[in-house]
Amino acid sequence: MSSRSFCGLDFGTSNSTVACQIQGDMELAPVEGESRTLPSSVFFDFADGSVSFGRAALACYAEGGEGRLMRSLKTVLGGSLMDETTLIKSRVYTYKEIIGLIVGRLKASAERAAGAGVARAVLGRPVHFVDDNPAADRAARDALEEIARAQGFTEIEFQYEPIAAALAYEQTVEREQYALIADIGGGTSDFSIVRVSPEGRARTDRGQDVLANKGVHIGGTDIDRLLSLRAVMPLLGLNSERRGDFGAKILPVANAFFVDLATWHRINLLYTPKVARELQSMLRHSLSPELIERLIAVVESRRGHSIALSVETAKIALSTRPSAAIDLTDIERDFVVETNRDILRAAIADRLGALARTLDETLAAAGLTGERIDAVFLTGGSTAIPAVRAVATARTPRAAIVEGDLFGAVGLGLGLDARRKFG
Ligand SMILES: Nc1ncnc2c1ncn2[C@@H]1O[C@H](COP(=O)(O)OP(=O)(O)OP(=O)(O)O)[C@@H](O)[C@H]1O
Ligand SMILES: [Mg+2]
Repeated sequence: MSSRSFCGLDFGTSNSTVACQIQGDMELAPVEGESRTLPSSVFFDFADGSVSFGRAALACYAEGGEGRLMRSLKTVLGGSLMDETTLIKSRVYTYKEIIGLIVGRLKASAERAAGAGVARAVLGRPVHFVDDNPAADRAARDALEEIARAQGFTEIEFQYEPIAAALAYEQTVEREQYALIADIGGGTSDFSIVRVSPEGRARTDRGQDVLANKGVHIGGTDIDRLLSLRAVMPLLGLNSERRGDFGAKILPVANAFFVDLATWHRINLLYTPKVARELQSMLRHSLSPELIERLIAVVESRRGHSIALSVETAKIALSTRPSAAIDLTDIERDFVVETNRDILRAAIADRLGALARTLDETLAAAGLTGERIDAVFLTGGSTAIPAVRAVATARTPRAAIVEGDLFGAVGLGLGLDARRKFG
């Protein structure tokens, strides 16, 4: 099989896609059954040693079989966990190897759809993998390249995810315009200001048309964490009190375990004998032992991701409804927590402020006022949140609001870029 074919690969914090030439057209490849998105999730089943991906991985975990679920692995790139190993049953994996399993899966899907070997790829990257740390950011990019090489990609280029989204949007425009691209996904929020036009589609060098790129590490997984810390973790003992070591003083409990439990990529760090001992000590000193017992039960039964999934489900429901229930009946009978848009908005208020600042910086870097922007192109799952969307569209009074394919625009744009670079 020839391997001259090429693809655009969007390894996302929450969802991944791959685009390739399918019967002459650049399209997203089916990656899980008929579906063109693959949740970036892996489940290692301890009973039969199998590994599953995507929706299947989430379903295996939900069934409650013994095993290990991993999600939000992109967040690990550039951080302290990147070069660490994790023991899964009796085998040691590096996080890079686990990401490699997902990238390898996407490559195989592209090859199946293209009917050819695919060895050349444009990989998407956020504007910053890591904020304010160029060395760590470079390390993250290099790690992703190394991972892709290990899966058999021999020619690799990178493209900013929002620029890829701009290329997808440009397929649809009928006249030249200034577009603000807002890509707010699971891990990062990226803004680009790009001059798009029908003629631009044919140009190979777009340097002149990209007026600004800015990004910040805010995404849906942070929103999940903040909602969980506000609405759920207090019911497992966050903010409760304990006696000091010598009895007299009353102190708040340490919050680190709760932060880990609420943070997708850190949940598995709680499943160790050392943490189990520390939680028992927390229980002995607690003034609210019934809450800490609940926390211990969650950690012992490995239901951390179950909480995170229920919080995420409620968050998504709040995009279309004013209130929603966080269903924790998997943890305890009748354990349901009501939440609403006001609670969500309060939990993420300072993140919304940071998002607005990043948008202002993007306009300033482009040398444009918001009035000059003709269209705002929204992509990334978190743009469905009304409060987030309000920030993304607040500065551009004249602009048409265009909702792209929230989960596919980046991958498709990376494919269009791959065709320009390799085709
Ligand atoms: N309707 C919705 N309302 C609110 N949030 C949503 C909705 N649908 C999906 N999300 C959230 O969007 C995020 C995933 O979006 P997306 O797939 O665009 O991210 P990603 O591309 O994987 O991440 P990144 O680009 O940051 O690496 C998740 O946090 C998910 O909970
Ligand atoms: Mg994305």
